[in-house]
Amino acid sequence: MKPQDLEPSSITYHFRRPDEIPPKTLEQIRHLIEEGSGVGTSWLRENLQKAFLIGYAEHEGMVVGTSTHKYPKEGYRKKIEAATGLDLSEYLERGYTAVKPEYRGSGIGGRLIRGLIERSAGKRVYVTIRMENVPPLKMTYKERMVLAARFMNERTGHEIGVFVNQPPRRKMNAESCLEKNASFDLDFEEILSEKGFHQKKVTRGFKKGHRSPRTPWLTCQTYR
Ligand SMILES: CC(C)(COP(=O)(O)OP(=O)(O)OC[C@H]1O[C@@H](n2cnc3c(N)ncnc32)[C@H](O)[C@@H]1OP(=O)(O)O)[C@@H](O)C(=O)NCCC(=O)NCCS
Repeated sequence: MKPQDLEPSSITYHFRRPDEIPPKTLEQIRHLIEEGSGVGTSWLRENLQKAFLIGYAEHEGMVVGTSTHKYPKEGYRKKIEAATGLDLSEYLERGYTAVKPEYRGSGIGGRLIRGLIERSAGKRVYVTIRMENVPPLKMTYKERMVLAARFMNERTGHEIGVFVNQPPRRKMNAESCLEKNASFDLDFEEILSEKGFHQKKVTRGFKKGHRSPRTPWLTCQTYR
């Protein structure tokens, strides 16, 4: 099916707590995530059952798209916090987003993530996305989530973006931020002034003698 052949009114959207979803539908959701999302799925069944809210789109009785607002695993959240300096303690995590390949590019993913946010009662939400994965990046920008920080997943070597619907607080102070060489896309001054620093100068450059001469780094000079 091509996106232009799809009659938008033939798609129905549902946003439900896991225990309100018929078991057969939940099974279809799980299959779609396993096939389509490319994310680790070892805890999938359990995570879906404990999720805050699950969104799914149906066409002719079949689940063709899904996305979930879930409670992040504490260990995973702490890893992101350690790598970025963000405080995500009160955030839900968007995850398990997948649309069947033949239904992609017709706005289903966007409607699902918008619907989840609208029904999550003002909750703070973050999502992590590989910075080279263009479709979810576009979809996420379009729904007005903003890039709060980026970090390297050292295990996989991928650069990961952390996107939020509301700006998070920062845990890390100015010195340890510099030490970690974390890169922040929100107003850098915010991090510094929170800790009583004022930003004097922020320079982007390339680290001398580093493995790759093109590895960018951030320096900043600060004063109290
Ligand atoms: C990400 C995903 C859920 C998006 O679903 P979707 O229903 O196609 O989303 P939408 O149609 O709302 O928006 C997708 C955007 O990406 C664009 N896009 C799709 N494929 C693209 C490609 N190969 N290159 C560039 N842009 C692309 C679409 O044109 C659209 O942008 P536009 O509205 O500016 O035209 C779907 O691509 C998918 O299931 N991908 C595999 C799983 C995945 O990556 N999940 C996200 C993990 S964070």
